[in-house]
Amino acid sequence: MLDKLSEIEKTALDALGSVQDASSLDAWRVAQLGRSSPLMQVFSGFGALSKEERPIVGQAANKVKAALEAALAEKTEAVKRSALERSLSGEKLDVTLPGRTIHHGRLHPSTQQLRRVLSILAEMGFQVYTSREVETDEMNFQLLNFPPHHPAREMQDSFYVEAEGREENPVLMRTHTSPGQIHAMREFAAMNPKDPPSIRIALPGMCFRYEQITARSEIQFNQVEGLAVGKGITFSNLKGTLIDFAHRMFGQNARTRFRASYFPFTEPSAEMDVECFVCGGKGCAVCKNSGWLEILGCGMVHPVVLQNGGYDPKIYSGFAWGMGPERQLMLRYKIEDIRYFWGNDVRFLEQF
Ligand code: DAH
Repeated sequence: MLDKLSEIEKTALDALGSVQDASSLDAWRVAQLGRSSPLMQVFSGFGALSKEERPIVGQAANKVKAALEAALAEKTEAVKRSALERSLSGEKLDVTLPGRTIHHGRLHPSTQQLRRVLSILAEMGFQVYTSREVETDEMNFQLLNFPPHHPAREMQDSFYVEAEGREENPVLMRTHTSPGQIHAMREFAAMNPKDPPSIRIALPGMCFRYEQITARSEIQFNQVEGLAVGKGITFSNLKGTLIDFAHRMFGQNARTRFRASYFPFTEPSAEMDVECFVCGGKGCAVCKNSGWLEILGCGMVHPVVLQNGGYDPKIYSGFAWGMGPERQLMLRYKIEDIRYFWGNDVRFLEQF
């Protein structure tokens, strides 16, 4: 029996030698010290031993048990230590690594430009007036002096929202910000119909045209419209205001010129060019060798339009203009394709 005990001890300690981790250590504990282990069977077989044998075997068995338990405790520590060492060397934390950068969002370039334009106009005394994107034909065209079959409508073919049953006055997505002029004038005039107040407003917003999408034309784009109405407003006020705007927008030395043009809602009408800021007026691909870039359309508000807005053209006069922030950005940054604006490609958007 004593031989058997030392055999049990030897086998158990040998087996412990090959234990590497916590789970095989646990298996070893069950096999060597558990209820049905060879050692425990010696204890439960005590009854079969003679009176003389019992204390000798008992003492020896207890010694083996203590030895195995001590070996188990030691091995448990060793397994823990090696697991810690493994994780320390395997999962190194380098506190000198740069942190992960937080991705900052930013405003869309069109919004940035829109805000730039509006803040300049605010400094010049123009208050923002927002107007709807869905309009009636009457507002978008008729009250702006475009008669039903006027050829100037051709340039602004539209997205119709509702036409059936309203052939005379279909609902459409606005093709320009100019209908806001009528809404604004009527709202201001209603404040004091006998003596309407003067108006200085900037009308920003998205416009829509049914166009074939190309590098130069999109079906949606922003405009900023300006409107000044009052008593005694002249074409020199228009020129002074727009030249001042160009200087604030493009630099104090930016040269400008006006060319005669035509819009149904202004008379006389003009277009304003600014000296090409890419080539300085020498002529390049951006200005198509002309040395000038067209940046806006303008004119004195047509008497019919003033009348439609509730302002008596015999007493009041005014000027208006319209310009495109995307176009300004395209010129400024030599963006050759307008489709980038609504393509949602962050590689484009992140450059601004
Ligand atoms: N509404 C015109 C367009 O979309 C732009 C414009 C031209 C607006 C002259 C004006 C103006 O107010 O006076 O092409």
